Amino acid sequence: GTTLGASAAEKGRYFGAAVPAFKLSDSQFTGILDREFNAITPENEMKWDATEPSQNQFNYNGGDQIVTHAQAHGMKVRGHTLLWHAQQPGWAQNLSGTALRNAAMNHVTQVATHYKGKIYAWDVVNEAFADGTSGGRRDSNLQRTGNDWIEVAFRTARTADPGAKLCYNDYNTDGVNAKSTGVYNMVRDFKSRGVPIDCVGFQSHLGTSLPGDYQANLQRFADLGVDVQITELDITQGTNQANMYAAVTKACLAVTRCTGITTWGVRDSDSWRGSDNPLLFDANGNKKAAYTSTLNALNAG
Ligand code: G3I
Repeated sequence: GTTLGASAAEKGRYFGAAVPAFKLSDSQFTGILDREFNAITPENEMKWDATEPSQNQFNYNGGDQIVTHAQAHGMKVRGHTLLWHAQQPGWAQNLSGTALRNAAMNHVTQVATHYKGKIYAWDVVNEAFADGTSGGRRDSNLQRTGNDWIEVAFRTARTADPGAKLCYNDYNTDGVNAKSTGVYNMVRDFKSRGVPIDCVGFQSHLGTSLPGDYQANLQRFADLGVDVQITELDITQGTNQANMYAAVTKACLAVTRCTGITTWGVRDSDSWRGSDNPLLFDANGNKKAAYTSTLNALNAG
């Protein structure tokens, strides 16, 4: 293939980008998006603060714009994200206990129902594990409603949209480490008890080196019987950026159940990472060396 999306499709994968709704009116941005990518993740528009700014008052404007664009261009949509400790509306931050639990599950039901049939995969729960060596859950208002909040969220999402793949998504889980092993143990437990989980997202916000066991880590999750996806890829620009993009791409292609890769933005100027220049296109929309290495990796073999 001659584009990221077409080349990924030849390998049975998708290649996506995070997109904020306001950039759909930037013709340079959409020119690249529509040419190169065949999946979209809304960067902020499907988060709790955006979709339910007041309790039980839902706003789907931004998310709907993105879904409409995706459908018009034959792109998959990764829904991001139903429940997260960050970007909660103020009213939810002020709840706890049963009131918060009920509000959270109502949120899952309402949003997943609104987008029913339009979402390839939902990040049902985002970033619920602690950094560091504990391998345990992150402390948050949601966690304090009871350790079962994650499985209840997955069951609730399944009921609302049985056709969407349901993912757990996190960062710093890209190699084999205490945090990724904590997630691994949860997924293994969910599979053994029939909790509906279909996929695990590895954000892959990477610095200047790739964990040596990156592919092995994807594979151990795949071996549990879930799909794996690279969901928020960006890599510090340095001498190694192009090689690292190629290595991540090859790792995904080497894992049968790795179904796709998403970069967290299109151009460096779209990135949340300031001056790291971590994406595949420069601020003028030109292809970088990392673009070429990624495309070549997709087309190899
Ligand atoms: O919408 C408000 C706007 O009303 C206000 O005027 C403005 C002033 O600061 O802020 C706007 O909200 C910003 C929001 O993006 C929408 O643009 C927030 O301040 C800003 O913090 C928020 O940043 C997003 C961040 O998640 C929030 O944690 C980034 O765009 C987004 O790229 C980033 O994405 C996350 C993933 O969801 C999860 N994984 C990590 C990743 C990077 O942090």
